[in-house]
Amino acid sequence: MSSRRKKTKAAGPKQKVFIIKNAFLEEEATKRALADFILTAPKLSMGQQCESFERAFAAKQERKEAVLFNSGASANLAMLQALKNLGRLEPGAAVGFSALTWSTNIMPIIQMGFKPIAVDCDVNTLNVMSHNLEERLAHVHLDAFFATNVIGFTGDLHKIKKICDERNIIFIEDNCESLGTELPEGKAGNFGLASSVSFYVAHHMSTIEGGMVCTDDEEFSEMLRVVRANGWDRNLHSHQQEKWRKKHSVGSDFYAKFAFYDLGYNLRPTEITGFLGLSQLQFLDENIKTRQRTYLRAEEVMKKNDELIVPERGHLSVHSSFVIPVLCKTPTLRKKYIAKFNAAGVEIRPMIAGNMQKQPFHKKYVKETFHLPNTDFFHHNSFYCGNCPDYTEEEVATILACLEPER
Ligand SMILES: Cc1ncc(COP(=O)(O)O)c(C=O)c1O
Repeated sequence: MSSRRKKTKAAGPKQKVFIIKNAFLEEEATKRALADFILTAPKLSMGQQCESFERAFAAKQERKEAVLFNSGASANLAMLQALKNLGRLEPGAAVGFSALTWSTNIMPIIQMGFKPIAVDCDVNTLNVMSHNLEERLAHVHLDAFFATNVIGFTGDLHKIKKICDERNIIFIEDNCESLGTELPEGKAGNFGLASSVSFYVAHHMSTIEGGMVCTDDEEFSEMLRVVRANGWDRNLHSHQQEKWRKKHSVGSDFYAKFAFYDLGYNLRPTEITGFLGLSQLQFLDENIKTRQRTYLRAEEVMKKNDELIVPERGHLSVHSSFVIPVLCKTPTLRKKYIAKFNAAGVEIRPMIAGNMQKQPFHKKYVKETFHLPNTDFFHHNSFYCGNCPDYTEEEVATILACLEPER
């Protein structure tokens, strides 16, 4: 008889339900296609794949122009720099932002020398609604408003646009978390002058890192391309290049390649970004539907739990769910639900990053702060877990069980 004992599997820690389960939609097929692409691509720096992805994405978003970047943060930075380069916003301009947002939504406002003005969100929709903007405008002048469409939801963007139009306020959207969401009045991301999207792995579609700005304004997209690549004109249409060269008396083709016209960075994507974007775009709609189905199941459970608040989405015609928010009525309840999710092995995180005014960078650079009771409410009472389209039924069931009230 063999002296070797039969190995028994030790009961290890429970498998985690991760916020980011995979890098890609259709992970296996995408990785294989990417490997083949890298082996055979004639060029890997920004080129044809990026241009094709820009055209495909602009068509999908129903915008005239799409400019691809190496991240959502870069897309935000480029929008603010382009506004400054074009003289549409002067140094010191007051720029409103959603207080419940991501750091690199506000940082470029500070970096450009504009004045950041926090706007509170609505307690039912998690987003800045027109009434929140009006409350701020009652006491503070704004030159621009940079709204964040938070975790798949949005505010009443058509009303916000109307307010901005009436008061000559430049309106731009950070749509990094709400790609695919629609209102009866239009797609999220299409209400402002321009909007950003993030293709970081945690988002609706991934190019590993990546971002896009969509706009109908050709002058703005032209400046975005200047800002994206060193301040030069190489990625502009020939009629645009001619204009810049003539204006600045750059006569020789030899020097034209190294003429730097306005302030820029290197925020360029690679052909890998372009290739992945084109490939992921094929799977986007189906995966948005899968996330919606999971969200609706979670919403049903949350509706029956009187310890939780269910976000309002009646003003949306398509809710492109990003994550599953857990909005607890009190901080004590949040403590209880955090413990429940932790015990079940479900990864969680704060609601984006809470009230941005509480962040060290904001305290260091922004002197004027505002009373933000609703953003504070979410700071203390909420968190979220993932809603990946490739969760197994077991993973979804684990999340749903955590949302059940304890009897
Ligand atoms: C609202 C918002 N804006 C901007 C970003 C930045 O995107 P990226 O991570 O691609 O730089 C994020 C990232 O999660 C975000 O949630």
